[in-house]
Amino acid sequence: MTPENSKGQYPPSDEYRKYAFIKSEEEYYRIYDESIKDPVAYWVKQTDCIDWFSKDWKEAFTWDKKENKFTWFKGGKMNVTYNCLDRHVKNGLKNTAAIIFQGEEDDDVKVYTYGQLLHEVEKFSNVLKSKGVKKGDRVAVYLPMVPELPITLLACARIGAVHSVVFAGFSSDSVYNRVVDCTPKVMVTSDGSYRGGKKIDMKGKVNEILEKDTSVTTVVVVKRTGSDIVMEEGRDVWWHEEMAKAPIRCEPEVMDAEDPLFLLYTSGTTGKPKGLMHTSGGYLVGACTSFRNVFNYAPGQVYWCTADIGWITGHTYILYGPLSLGATTLMFEGVPNYPENDRFWQVAEKWKVDIFYTAPTAIRMIRKTGDEWITRHDLSSIKMLGSVGEPIDADVWKWYHKTVGGGRCPIADTWWQTETGSILISPMTGAFNLKPASAMKPLPGIEPVIYKEDKTECAAGESGNLYIKKPFPSLARTIWNDHEKFVETYWTAFPGHYLTGDGARVDEDGDYWLLGRVDDVISVAGHRIGAAEVEAALISHPAVAEAAVVPIPDEIKGEAIYTFVTLKDGFEESEDLKKQLIDQVRNIVGPIATPKTVQIANGLPKTRSGKIMRRLLRKIAGGSKKDELGDTTTLIDPGVIDVLIKGRV
Ligand code: WTA
Repeated sequence: MTPENSKGQYPPSDEYRKYAFIKSEEEYYRIYDESIKDPVAYWVKQTDCIDWFSKDWKEAFTWDKKENKFTWFKGGKMNVTYNCLDRHVKNGLKNTAAIIFQGEEDDDVKVYTYGQLLHEVEKFSNVLKSKGVKKGDRVAVYLPMVPELPITLLACARIGAVHSVVFAGFSSDSVYNRVVDCTPKVMVTSDGSYRGGKKIDMKGKVNEILEKDTSVTTVVVVKRTGSDIVMEEGRDVWWHEEMAKAPIRCEPEVMDAEDPLFLLYTSGTTGKPKGLMHTSGGYLVGACTSFRNVFNYAPGQVYWCTADIGWITGHTYILYGPLSLGATTLMFEGVPNYPENDRFWQVAEKWKVDIFYTAPTAIRMIRKTGDEWITRHDLSSIKMLGSVGEPIDADVWKWYHKTVGGGRCPIADTWWQTETGSILISPMTGAFNLKPASAMKPLPGIEPVIYKEDKTECAAGESGNLYIKKPFPSLARTIWNDHEKFVETYWTAFPGHYLTGDGARVDEDGDYWLLGRVDDVISVAGHRIGAAEVEAALISHPAVAEAAVVPIPDEIKGEAIYTFVTLKDGFEESEDLKKQLIDQVRNIVGPIATPKTVQIANGLPKTRSGKIMRRLLRKIAGGSKKDELGDTTTLIDPGVIDVLIKGRV
């Protein structure tokens, strides 16, 4: 047991400390201080965690500050899949489990050893090649959490194709926007997916978007649900039929460290999602070293990250981080509450999971259903816990520590982003006394800094905007097709510093506390939803004149979506219309963006320049009274405020 100490902190047990990668505060500070004195030297040393065909970079790091372009290890040659599979097969892990697939139904299980996974990946690489995919081409992936998803990604990486995964919970417009932007030749999808015992259509959505003009010439379809679907002759092929014909061997392509590995679209403050581009070498070095530093994986353990591979967490910490280190990673198709509220714990008990990494939204949901769902299971195999995606508050942290971790497991509250590719701030759980709700320390090689609006550095205890000084290897290089946007979004607020978009403060011990987004990005159940994307969906309804979307606090999901809508003349408020508007967002953006509330309003608060004041709407939606709204003198029509407060739902 590691009880809370007199300062309310949780020291690691001696047993855990011994086995951790970084074992003491002194060791952390020694590594960290040295890494910050010379980050390039630190990162060059970290390149040893992967195998290179050649390390012939002229300069390990280049940085054109004017153009905001930077490179890591350019000229070095390697292959990501070779590092995740071939080298382990050569080094004795051929018969070790790489991926444990646990389907939604308990008896739906597949275990892929490193040898078997390599075999499947080589074959699918050949399928992609047979469809004309070459190095540098993009492949769009819209798949549920089935083994074909990681197989597709590793096959792309093997032949140098750039994968772009669209989360299976997105609906047609969201998929379309993400697919057309990166002009893929091939799309990989499935006939459907299972979720909470229901069959969900996927191929119908793909057919719908491919009716429009796109670059896709081949769609490979995985048979998952056996649903009746429409296959278009000449374009659509079945995964299993292609795999049956595919040759067995496929050599990995020699890639430059700076060659793109994948694009991943994320919502921003405008309606258009941004395709963040990650590279092969820098990304893998970041994924591999952060996985090692944070999770303290030991050979033979089972590691389980409950994210979906459609998000960055799944990319880096289901797939590339664990596999690059030869770990056994569990991928789970299901949800926490199906067939019953103890599904996670039943899976953890069954597979004797050692490391469990999930999101605060899942923890809050599980906590609400009652402790007995957890305590009825033997979770003694679990040695450490992780959290990601949103701030976890101290109460929820303590509950997670006590009930899931049995009071003995340290928790890594890991902070990072789609853009950063890998974890940047997290306690090194073997070294530090944990503070509930603090993400604590930057990883070696990472130098965060918090500035006030006036760009002076915050003192201990003051909150401000979180930046990272200098690029690091796993940071995205650009936004696909829009480098200007990349510069404007991340590098303009404080030239030479990467702007994270998060608020934070640091305490007297140098520990970081993350405070959530400071822009118009809403975090619903830890998923980033751009307010602008939801607004665009609402505005496309014939009745809607204008819409403004803000977050409100939600007990389970962290934040929920509150929408203010003004109607065009001739349309009347009704329950039916509100339902139509909610459905509109579900159909266009996806079920994850379902608004919790629709408030029909006569007008929205605007500045003289016509900008909607979301700051005020946030407060109104959150229940603030008029005198709590702050300065409203810049509004064109301050009268609108009373009406909005009165109409609050
Ligand atoms: C938030 C997910 C507090 C943050 C890996 C960030 C967090 C956004 C934490 C990125 C954490 C992530 N504590 N907030 N431990 N982890 N966030 O791109 O607002 O889906 O900017 O990447 O999630 O979300 P994304």
